[in-house]
Amino acid sequence: MMETVLSTREVTKIYELEDQVITAVDHVSLDLFRGEFVALVGPSGSGKTSMLAMIAGLLTPTGGEICLDGEEVGQMRESKRTRVRREKIGFTFQAHNLVNYLTALENVELMLRLNSRYDKDGQARSIELLTRLGLEDRLHNLPTQLSGGQRQRVAIARSLIHEPQLVLADEPTANLDTALAHQVVETFSELVHEQNRAGIMVTHDLRMVLYCDRVIEMEDGRLKHVLSDRAQIEQLAGNDPVRNAETVKLLK
Ligand SMILES: Nc1ncnc2c1ncn2[C@@H]1O[C@H](COP(=O)(O)OP(=O)(O)O)[C@@H](O)[C@H]1O
Ligand SMILES: [Mg+2]
Repeated sequence: MMETVLSTREVTKIYELEDQVITAVDHVSLDLFRGEFVALVGPSGSGKTSMLAMIAGLLTPTGGEICLDGEEVGQMRESKRTRVRREKIGFTFQAHNLVNYLTALENVELMLRLNSRYDKDGQARSIELLTRLGLEDRLHNLPTQLSGGQRQRVAIARSLIHEPQLVLADEPTANLDTALAHQVVETFSELVHEQNRAGIMVTHDLRMVLYCDRVIEMEDGRLKHVLSDRAQIEQLAGNDPVRNAETVKLLK
């Protein structure tokens, strides 16, 4: 039996500006199952970040429902939403704000402290996770002493350490070179699968869909295609190493 971690129903986000109304997300319904790592792709402006932010409980939907682990989070009171977000969701966003006066290790441990789960075992797991992401020599460095790619990997470790039901990542490879991008996303995918979590990764780099079980494409705020056939995903990932999601049409 596939266990549903997340289901969204007709989720919509409308931004009302002074002279303009923008429908960023337009009636999107999707289900995500435990043990699944999904790629969310689509051109810039197609609504990926807005969708992810609503799922993360950082943005209130204009309409529709978002159900996480059996609870409706979309319209939840802010205080409760904060708790659900902290316990059940891990995220790394493009502007991955690490705490600047804490070391790499302390930044990861912070998620455990916030959930009152910090202990010797938690510390050992934090070190193990950072080591797996290739940061064993950077545990005690401050974010300002790390490269963009290293900071990104600390953010990934931080998003996973408290064993959330759902892990969300917005362009986690934006600052990484090709080899490192592959390594990081592969490890990310392994961790999601090993820990039997559910994950959504927004990416511009179609090569990264190789590590995903499903590919969801958005266009103009709507779900356009969903790809789950392994051969098709591999074809999409391998098609043309330099083109990006701006220009691609998913295989039909
Ligand atoms: N805070 C905001 N206020 C107004 N419009 C926004 C805001 N955030 C995003 N948008 C608009 O919503 C649409 C979707 O944006 P976004 O969710 O960032 O897409 P993506 O991540 O796919 O690039 C775009 O047209 C964008 O300009
Ligand atoms: Mg975005």
